[in-house]
Amino acid sequence: MADISLNLFGRKLKNPVMNASGTLGYGREIEPLWRVSEMGVYVSKGLSLKPHHGNPTPRVWEVSSGMLNSIGLQNIGIDRFLEEYLPYFSETKTPVIINFFGFTVEEYVGCAERIKDDENIFALEMNLSCPNIKEGGIGFGKDPNMVFNLIKAVKSVTTKPIFAKLSPEVKNIVEIAKSAYEAGSDGLTLINTMPGVAVDIRKGVIPIKGGLSGPAIKPVALKAVYECRKAVPIPILGTGGIMSLEDALSFFMAGAWAIQVGTATFVDPYTIPRIIDGLKGYLEHHGFSSVSEITGITE
Ligand code: SIN
Repeated sequence: MADISLNLFGRKLKNPVMNASGTLGYGREIEPLWRVSEMGVYVSKGLSLKPHHGNPTPRVWEVSSGMLNSIGLQNIGIDRFLEEYLPYFSETKTPVIINFFGFTVEEYVGCAERIKDDENIFALEMNLSCPNIKEGGIGFGKDPNMVFNLIKAVKSVTTKPIFAKLSPEVKNIVEIAKSAYEAGSDGLTLINTMPGVAVDIRKGVIPIKGGLSGPAIKPVALKAVYECRKAVPIPILGTGGIMSLEDALSFFMAGAWAIQVGTATFVDPYTIPRIIDGLKGYLEHHGFSSVSEITGITE
């Protein structure tokens, strides 16, 4: 019998499938369709020390093979999330990764400090890669020294494992991954969106400058996972254009320990449970007993 559970940081997750931050709201919104506890981990929307209103509309724009978003990290703030939303994940025994960001180093540290040692919080995911804000975000994530210093600072105030979520819009993502690892990052999330724009030809304007996600960036994400897995010995959460079980398998084989599904949920909100169901069948059919047997099998 194939077992799709995943042992990570001493904890047994029921499966290696998660949502990508920001694509499942605060979690409960999806529950009329399926239970958030079906996933191995729920990844929170990006949270900051103070609530943030985000960017003006339009914030999302469909393009061929993907989507542009410019949400601008709108969120209710870390304190409200911990008070109002975290208890639900504890009740439903759903491990949570808290995705967080700051506009300054102090805000990253302040936010991490607020995240209490709740056993239901499985890990933190540091957003070092948002293309849609003027300060911080990708500006921090492009500089290996900045990445090192930020992660070191956050590690000094938390005992939770940290995943650094990196941008593909850098000269050399492997170099950034090495900096994150050397600073003590426990894992990596690869990749965030790639910057792009759309043109509205009826009006002759650019309605949105944002982050491109979806199938268009899958090869870029796979390359990042494949190259970084060879460069650093820490778990990688692979994300970028996963629309199907076949896409998820590509990420595992390229070296991802677990995967995150984002844009696909906007196309078909049942993509995540379908991938979870399909994974077990695939492993059994091909004679594998666990996902780790296919993780990183590509040379
Ligand atoms: C956004 O809120 O603009 C997207 C978040 C991100 O790309 O990190």
